[in-house]
Amino acid sequence: MTNSTQSHPKATSQKYVVATVSEIPPGSKKIVEAGGRSLGVYNLAGHFYALRNVCPHQGAELCKGLVKPLVVSKGPGHLEFEREGEIVRCPWHQWEFDIKTGCMIVDPAMRTKTYEVTVETFGVTVEDGQVVVYM
Ligand code: FES
Repeated sequence: MTNSTQSHPKATSQKYVVATVSEIPPGSKKIVEAGGRSLGVYNLAGHFYALRNVCPHQGAELCKGLVKPLVVSKGPGHLEFEREGEIVRCPWHQWEFDIKTGCMIVDPAMRTKTYEVTVETFGVTVEDGQVVVYM
């Protein structure tokens, strides 16, 4: 199994063993409690990512949302799907976030006043067959 460090754990971070690798097979997720926070831990093709399970819009449990591909279009009537399984859609109002970065998915051509909207992410490693989150 591949180790993943989306952001490298800091020496001062607290370590939380949240699952065994076999509990979160590729393409799946597990919602866990660590450090008093609810997190969604995702396995994307053998790499692990942890997102805070709180939507920055109105606080829904984001990680209970469906996982989708990124939908892109070159124009009317044209749709393509990319990055299968890497986007989580909030169950309340359908805002979408990149599981790898926590960033909201937006169309840069469609802009109004902008706000930085991200979901807090945490470093994840695999150690001796266990999935470990640093926060
Ligand atoms: S609470 Fe998540 S989109 Fe509204």
